[in-house]
Amino acid sequence: MQDSLQSIELYNGDRMPSVGLGLWKIPNQDAAGIVAEALRMGYRHLDSACDYGNEKEVGQGIAQALQAGVCRREDLWVTSKLWNTYHRAHHVRPALERTLDDLGLDYVDLYLIHFPIALQFVPFETRYPPGWVYDPDAPDPKMQPDAVPIAETWAAMEELQRAGLARHIGISNFGCALIRDLLSYAQVRPSVLQVESHPYLVQPKLLRFCQQEGIAYTAFSPLGAGSYVPLGMAQPSDSVLDEPVVQQIASRHDKSPAQVVLRWGIQRGTAVIPKSVHIDRLRQNIDLFDFSLSDAEMEAISALDRHHRFNDPGVFCEQAFGCFYPIYD
Ligand code: A2P
Repeated sequence: MQDSLQSIELYNGDRMPSVGLGLWKIPNQDAAGIVAEALRMGYRHLDSACDYGNEKEVGQGIAQALQAGVCRREDLWVTSKLWNTYHRAHHVRPALERTLDDLGLDYVDLYLIHFPIALQFVPFETRYPPGWVYDPDAPDPKMQPDAVPIAETWAAMEELQRAGLARHIGISNFGCALIRDLLSYAQVRPSVLQVESHPYLVQPKLLRFCQQEGIAYTAFSPLGAGSYVPLGMAQPSDSVLDEPVVQQIASRHDKSPAQVVLRWGIQRGTAVIPKSVHIDRLRQNIDLFDFSLSDAEMEAISALDRHHRFNDPGVFCEQAFGCFYPIYD
């Protein structure tokens, strides 16, 4: 057991479990059961968001596990995220309160700004979660950006932390320049950055910058293309799990390619939040602490880097939501 890698230390000394269950795309009808089963298996970190549209069911799964005595609330790490339509200061607290109500919790451990993208407000009564387009019933549904400074949203996030509704606050899908700017005015530092990260998108400078600034780094889509193939955002041939070097390392350690890729993520100092709806994969994805990769194996996997981002608003916002909105370029 390599205890030090099982959790990541945050700047204030709190620890976040380094493996979490990603909840994006878990169908509503399966979410409660999967969450309860994952907690029984030993998961203690859940990665949720308003936009995933399943927070009520996730909350039911958490409640089942707590009632069954599987764990206590204080043993759990629950992350959620502020959706793009709630960036104006006066919408931030109601957005978290709605999430807390759905999750059946008094606080989240971590609340992230989901994207550095502010969209026109959509009231809860009109649609929840609101998604990307302003009016899906319009003849030509489109995303409608709103010019809200991140500083305004961040100040409201700080209030949530002061009020005890979010133990930690952080950011997602931000790059170094935006983080640097945020650090220039933040009264509460971001505890965590969550970004897409896998062997085809290694981003060593972003990770190094976060480590230098004491910002923990969570890798979403840590297995790469898998979840983007059904969405038409990747091809089956984009799978890093099929890379011969990953497969060779996996057979050397008697582990699956997914376990090798997740272990690479953890060993380079990131948290990983793979989603799965399959019990055997859920079990695999948390079973990462009885082997380790050599320096040469770590380097061989990092060398697969293609600088390829599957989840790129600069691409999908235009294709799906009629609005060209690059954020990384
Ligand atoms: P499934 O849910 O059918 O298991 P994300 O990028 O959102 O974290 O999603 C992870 C993707 O990888 C999903 O498509 C998931 O599919 C798949 N996956 C999860 N765990 C494994 C695993 N151990 N081996 C192979 N594929 C996996």
